[in-house]
Amino acid sequence: MDTEKKSKRIGILTAGGDCPGINAAIRGVGKTAILEYGMEVIGISSGFLGLINQEYVTLDENQLSGILTLGGTILGTSRENPFKKSGVFNAIDKPKLIKKHYQEIGLDALVCIGGNGTMRTADLLAEEGLDIIGIPKTIDNDVWGTDITFGFDSALGIATDAIDRLHTTANSHKRIMVIEVMGHHAGWLALYSGIAGGGDVILLPEIEFDINIVAKYLKKRAVNKKPYSIVVTAEGVSCPKNEKAGHFIAEQISERTGLETRETILGYIQRGGSPSPNDRLLATKYGTYAVELIAQNKFGVMVSARDDTIVSVPLREVSGKLRTVPLDHPLIEKAIRMGVCFGNCQV
Ligand code: F6P
Repeated sequence: MDTEKKSKRIGILTAGGDCPGINAAIRGVGKTAILEYGMEVIGISSGFLGLINQEYVTLDENQLSGILTLGGTILGTSRENPFKKSGVFNAIDKPKLIKKHYQEIGLDALVCIGGNGTMRTADLLAEEGLDIIGIPKTIDNDVWGTDITFGFDSALGIATDAIDRLHTTANSHKRIMVIEVMGHHAGWLALYSGIAGGGDVILLPEIEFDINIVAKYLKKRAVNKKPYSIVVTAEGVSCPKNEKAGHFIAEQISERTGLETRETILGYIQRGGSPSPNDRLLATKYGTYAVELIAQNKFGVMVSARDDTIVSVPLREVSGKLRTVPLDHPLIEKAIRMGVCFGNCQV
């Protein structure tokens, strides 16, 4: 009997910190799946929480139109980690519940859009037998296995614009302006926006800095009649617990140099708003390629960009790893040659 081939039913979820470009990725997956492969697309709310609580919505062309330029995620997100052991006795077996609901919906594949934590959970679910494709997103750009995550370019534009604006006010008041950008474990945003924004001091989690060296460098700039200085720091640099890096560094500079200093904590502004054109392009490429992999039954992988080519990498190779800024990164070397201080230079 010629049984009609059942079209695949795929689920999409978005987990972890939001960022511009997620909806462009959802659109890339959804439109390709529906129009090219006749698949059904199920949107899962609030990351892995939606699979635990059975919160789903069917995504058709209507839901997918008008979202390319929309910031955030139409599905909502959460930092739910189903494999995290909760202290509550006889806590529900969340992975088991996820697997049960995955089967009850009749999913043939699950696309997980997220950062490091999401890729780790995706890998563990793949080991449980679910057919998973990961799509890397985060403004931190710290997902191992890909040259770039979408969200980074948009945040870079926001951070660089903010630094540009600090130059004018710093120059008016002849002040030192410290700006803290996001990047908990990796300094990609601080490095790139620091250079793009003309930062004089750039502090990264990857480089142990000496605040005395920073102060001496800034004092020397003032003595050499530099009207103001800009300090760009990642939020994840070493500083006292429960203290914002930007505040701590500004306070230390002011105390050690006697120069008028102010701080700006850029925070969640970097995660908001419409995606940059580059992020829309990258998210779309990731989304369409994820569906091609599903059509080829290639699972347990994360889509990734390698030297401007979209490829895939096994989730087990990504899981638990972090892509930090290498100390020999060409941009660091170039910046040092241009006189930028990373807090460990001889001044
Ligand atoms: O992972 C991206 C990120 O924005 C980090 O840069 C930041 O430290 C973290 O998320 C903030 O997490 P939350 O949104 O849970 O406060």
